[in-house]
Order: sequence, then C-alpha cells, then structure tokens
Amino acid sequence: MDKPAIIGGRPRFTEVLPITKPTLPDYESIRGNVEDIMKTGMVTNSKNVRSFEKAASSYMGVKHAVAMNSCTAGMMLVMKSLKLRGEVITPSFTFCATTNAIEWCGMKPVFADIEEGYLCADPNHVNELVTKKTSAILATHVFGNPCDIGALQDIADDRKIRLFFDAAHCFGSEYKGKKIGNFGDAESFSLSPTKLVVAVEGGFLTTNDDEIARLGIMGRDYGHDGSYDCEFAGLNARMEEFNAIIGNETLKRLEKNLQMRTDLVGIYRQGLSKVPGISFQKIRDRSRTTYKDFPLILDEKEFGLSRDQLYESLRMENIISKKYFDPPSHKQRAFRQDIRLPVTDSIAPRIISIPLFSHMPKDDVKKVIETIKNIHENAEDIRKAL
Ligand SMILES: Cc1ncc(COP(=O)(O)O)c(C=O)c1O
Repeated sequence: MDKPAIIGGRPRFTEVLPITKPTLPDYESIRGNVEDIMKTGMVTNSKNVRSFEKAASSYMGVKHAVAMNSCTAGMMLVMKSLKLRGEVITPSFTFCATTNAIEWCGMKPVFADIEEGYLCADPNHVNELVTKKTSAILATHVFGNPCDIGALQDIADDRKIRLFFDAAHCFGSEYKGKKIGNFGDAESFSLSPTKLVVAVEGGFLTTNDDEIARLGIMGRDYGHDGSYDCEFAGLNARMEEFNAIIGNETLKRLEKNLQMRTDLVGIYRQGLSKVPGISFQKIRDRSRTTYKDFPLILDEKEFGLSRDQLYESLRMENIISKKYFDPPSHKQRAFRQDIRLPVTDSIAPRIISIPLFSHMPKDDVKKVIETIKNIHENAEDIRKAL
C-alpha cells in the first residue's frame, strides 16, 4: 500500500467520506403526502404528526410518544413537567445539548463519571453524588448503548428522585428485550439527520405517565391547551408536517437500516480488532444498540499515534472522523467545573468516531479499515513528520 497521505501519499478517498449521512426515503414515497400538505395548508402539528406519533409509540410499545421539534426541547419539557428544582445529576461525557437543557431549566448540572467500556453514567458515582438538593438523574444512552437502567432506577427509587433519559441516539435500542422509550419517568429522542430515524429535525418525548404526556403536549404548544390560558411557561416545540412525513418513512425502514449498520460494524470490528491499541465500546448484555456512532478508543503507546494524530491523518485521506464527546461538559467553557472524573478524563482525549451510516458501501468500510491499518504501520514516520 502507498504511504499515508499525511506523509506524502495519495489520499485513499478522492471524494470526502463524511462521518455520516442520513438514509432518506425516495422522493416518490413521500410525494403524495407532501402535495397534500401543500394543497390543504395543514403544514404543522396535524395528521402526519399524529400518525408518526402513533407509529413511534406502537414501535416502542410505549403509551405516549409526543412529537417535538428536537430532543433538546423534549428534555426541557420533561424537566418542566416534573417541576424539577435544584440539581440534576448527569454524565459529563454526553453531547452538550444534555447540559444545555438542564441549564435552560435553571438547574445545576452535577457531573457523574462514566463506566469504563460502556461509556454511560456510572451508577456508583451517581449514587455518591445524590444530596438533598438533587431532584433528578438525566442519563444519556451513549451512542445508542443503553445505560445500566436497572441500577439507575434503583437509585432513583431509593433516594426518591426522578430519572429520565437522553435517548437522542436510541430509536431502535433495547434494554433486556424492551425498547428504549419505556424507561424512567420519560425519555427524549432526537430525529436530526445524524440519527437512524430522521425527520430532518425533530424529537419524541416518550413516557408511560399520562400527566407527563399531558404537560408535554401542552408544553410544546407554549404551555396552554388551546385556551390561550397558559398553565406554565412552555415552548414552541411543535413538529412540522413535512418533518413527520419524512420521519414516518424512515421509521418504516428502521429495522432494515439497523441491520445494515450492525453488519457494517461487524466488518469494522473484525478488521480493526487486531490492530494494536484499538478497542471498542462494550455493549451491555441483553441490550441492542443502534450504533448511532462507531467510536474507537485509542491507546497511544500501542497504536503509535495519539487520537489527534489519527484524526489529522484520516482527514488527509479525506475521511472525516469526530471527537465525540471531547471536550466533555465539565471542561467546556459554558459549564466548566474544576472536578476530576477519572474515566471521562481518560476516555475523552482518546476517543474517535469513524464514518458510519446505514447505506455506507461495504467497500468504503473496508477501505477505512485498510487506511487505519496503514496509518498504524507508518506511525513512526507520521510522528516524525508532525
Ligand atoms: C446525546 C445527545 N443529546 C441531545 C442531542 C440533541 O438533539 P436535538 O438536536 O434533536 O435537540 C444530541 C444531538 O445529536 C445528542 O447527541
């Protein structure tokens, strides 16, 4: 193989390979519904949103799936519905939206560490952080991998606090044979273009609790029930009909897309498992992940290069990777806290997500594997050159 592009070889990809692409339906499959909303003028929060909610709740087996315009709005409205105050325990190793939502609701995020391997909130640390000021745990199912839900629910029950989940990555994930969407007091999903079920932008608040659902429905509509007499300060978080049309079609293809993605991850794992210094996120027993992202965890000494050197080497090959989630929340300017979270602090600078999308050609996956191997084999020259 030619030497890596970062030391003068030709880039392996002539066109940029993105980290991900939405797997969208054919236009023909949505044309009728799009024409209908144009004709009728019913362009937001109408029959397509209702049918998308029905399809989502029936897929997950959950009582309520309340459509939102984002996962962030869903999380904020769960907090409003539960009338939370004070502190919310949440992992620092998550996307900034989790922490943003807590801050926007006027509460203090208290950052928990993550479990080595699984990369989700560590229940032991969460338990240590509970104080009189704690009102809830907001845990993220990271990259689609369910949290240790049983242990977190036990803590919530024992300490009499609420539990809800950032399930942004999880449409299709399962925990002990049950779909994510059914756990804690509520869960919030994202339908943005990097997810498996895509509604352009959008989200679902899911719950089996009628009161949370009632307040979620009201909360997405400014906080009133049609009477213009607000029960509380809500948002405009309604889903548009066009988004629901796309979302409905992508949901129909979810199982197929998830299978394709799982097969691609199988190829990645097989091809990369023997490369020194690369390990993978562990998936919890009796769980199913969506592989919203496929991260590699690097051991710099064994691999020969740091995460940032690999990132740069891939970029020169026209392969886009992402440093999810680095910096973690407790190191970001907006949320900085001078605390030590040993696992988060160790993982964040060593993690890198590589390209994955449901319709990604297998040959591209194989090419990415060969490229990473080639970069590893030339690590010494790359180090010298940088
Ligand atoms: C873990 C996590 N939470 C929340 C969000 C925000 O989702 P949305 O853009 O739908 O608000 C994202 C977005 O990717 C995410 O990765």
